[in-house]
Amino acid sequence: MNDAAKTRVKKKTISTQLGAADRELIAAAIAARECAHAPWSRFKVGAAARFGDEIVKGCNVEFDVYGLTNCAERTAVFAAYACGAARKPLTALAVVADTPQPVSPCGACRQVMFECGGPELRVLLANLGGDARVVRMGDLLPGGFALDPATPVQTAAARRSKIAARKRK
Ligand code: THU
Repeated sequence: MNDAAKTRVKKKTISTQLGAADRELIAAAIAARECAHAPWSRFKVGAAARFGDEIVKGCNVEFDVYGLTNCAERTAVFAAYACGAARKPLTALAVVADTPQPVSPCGACRQVMFECGGPELRVLLANLGGDARVVRMGDLLPGGFALDPATPVQTAAARRSKIAARKRK
């Protein structure tokens, strides 16, 4: 099969196996990737997170002090807190890079995504070639840490009431 045919098959995979909401989220992640600031790695990543019915985008941002770099997934989650979208539950998050296989989030991002969306969070891993894989957060981070594993920390109010409940004990 030549490259053009392979691309057609890949595109078809996305269009036939994913619903409209998933495809919309991946398209938002692809758009977010255009904003990536990756002067050092030149590896651009885009992410898009669905909080309620709002989509919040993120990209990776690199600095001269490399350790201060922020991945696309965490940028999206932090932006959602900053703009108030994180008052609603995080239900799905897409991440996209120009990789041969769908890109997979780093450990730090998995922890943040797990805490924010819980083990049932729908995670869409994708690349620019049209490949996509849907995974459950709990499968990406089995046994992930959370102060209250039964209830994802989705909102500032939920977090405050949990902290208050712990203090009362
Ligand atoms: N990066 C992300 O943004 N998300 C990932 O899931 C993996 C890595 C970024 C961090 C850094 O800017 C670049 O990709 C290379 O590691």
